[in-house]
Amino acid sequence: MQKAKMVIDKEFKISEIDERVYGSFIEHMGRAVYGGIYEPEHKEADEQGFRKDVLELVKGLNVPIVRYPGGNMVSAYNWEDGVGPIDNRPRTLDLAWRTVETNQVGTNEFADWANKAGTDVMMAINLGTRGIDEARQFIEYCNHPGGSRWSDLRREHGYEEPHKIKTWCLGNEMDGPWQIGQKTAEEYGRLAKETAKAMRAVDPEIELVSCGSSGSGMPTFPEWEAVTLDHTYDEADYVSLHQYFGNQDNDSQNYLASTLELDRFINTVTSIADYIKAKKRSNKTLMLSFDEWNVWYHSTEQDKENAPWGTAPPILEDVYNFEDALLVGGILITFLKNADRVKMACMAQLVNVIAPIMTDNMGAAWKQTIYYPYMHASLFGRGVSLQPILSSPKMDTKDFTDVPYLDSAVVHNPENEEATIFIVNRHLSEDLRLDINVSSFEGYQLVEHIALEHEDLKAVNTSEKQEVQPYKNKETSLNMGSIEAKVNHASWNVIRLKKM
Ligand code: AHR
Repeated sequence: MQKAKMVIDKEFKISEIDERVYGSFIEHMGRAVYGGIYEPEHKEADEQGFRKDVLELVKGLNVPIVRYPGGNMVSAYNWEDGVGPIDNRPRTLDLAWRTVETNQVGTNEFADWANKAGTDVMMAINLGTRGIDEARQFIEYCNHPGGSRWSDLRREHGYEEPHKIKTWCLGNEMDGPWQIGQKTAEEYGRLAKETAKAMRAVDPEIELVSCGSSGSGMPTFPEWEAVTLDHTYDEADYVSLHQYFGNQDNDSQNYLASTLELDRFINTVTSIADYIKAKKRSNKTLMLSFDEWNVWYHSTEQDKENAPWGTAPPILEDVYNFEDALLVGGILITFLKNADRVKMACMAQLVNVIAPIMTDNMGAAWKQTIYYPYMHASLFGRGVSLQPILSSPKMDTKDFTDVPYLDSAVVHNPENEEATIFIVNRHLSEDLRLDINVSSFEGYQLVEHIALEHEDLKAVNTSEKQEVQPYKNKETSLNMGSIEAKVNHASWNVIRLKKM
């Protein structure tokens, strides 16, 4: 069996981790809201119609922030349609997904749901069909205490206290030809800057995300970032990144190496932001909000069967397999290794639509395979991100050379004196003997080694059967400052230490 070595040290700090890297996303599309978080006829529905079984699964992920209400949908969304007496709300056409939106859930209900789920809202505004005026009115409605037209309307709607939404996205994927109201970089940059000024005038406490490219494969990337940030740099706090992954060629070894591409994407956007910083002689460092990421490719064929203008049709319902869980683990490791710049990230999405949680209408709710690495990172990955020194055998794949079998991120939580080592072995057939030097963690003991493995890369979880579930690897030991572990091929590993 080949060997790998690692050294971790409390002093090898990358950065404090912003817990919002474990964020998620709920868009008004498919069965994310209707039939997902909200189903008033369901036996688990609470007094507002929210499914309590789904809320429990969301709480299990300890999600700190949820982006809302879109996504593509937001670019032709009128927020006014979703507030006020529910019975008076219009049925509207959602042009992005060509479905009918009933508006039974809107801003206030979603804020209530977020409270119940113990999470914050990251609100996106419509910069497709609308602009400065609606954005300033909407933020006045949400965040102003009262005594003005829009804040008093909120109070009339039964919400005396402002929602105090801190994080706002200035539109969504405005470079995409599929976007209603697509903009050139110049058009978007100007509009986003002026909108940001107006929003901040209403509430100076907010944080704003300038819209980046909808993916590194866009023909306008990275010029879009350079041009738009030239306009928005002084007003924005973050630039957004979006990226979806898929194993369309059924080349699993290459698929699992694609986090190298993700790392490159993050570094490129960081460099552009820093170039604009230098150009403007600014003292501010712009941070990254990776506010849409996930695997998305399983559902593409199935979606073609959906007729337009249905209500809550089952779209983008990817059923995730075991190899997708490994990739998701690798993506989370990549964010942690870039914790000095990636401050927010949203798994897209949370329920039913490309999601870790699935439901049946009027039926069960269950965990997809990708739920587990997301849960482990969110529960145990809070504190300071450390730079591991790792020596691992390497391989070449179709698109990548010198890919280490092992990828790892390490998190130290000095407050509760815990440390967690996340490791993915992306080699499909080779197990490794791993030696980890942890001598700087004096007095720390091994709590557990959790692993996710399955002999079938394509194994999935369903409402009937949880095929893919974590187990405890009892063979791992810690002696004299050194951890000895066997890291099996195609595995996700969470090794936890605590000072006793
Ligand atoms: O998450 C699904 C869609 O992917 C979002 O609506 C859009 O922003 C992205 O293209």
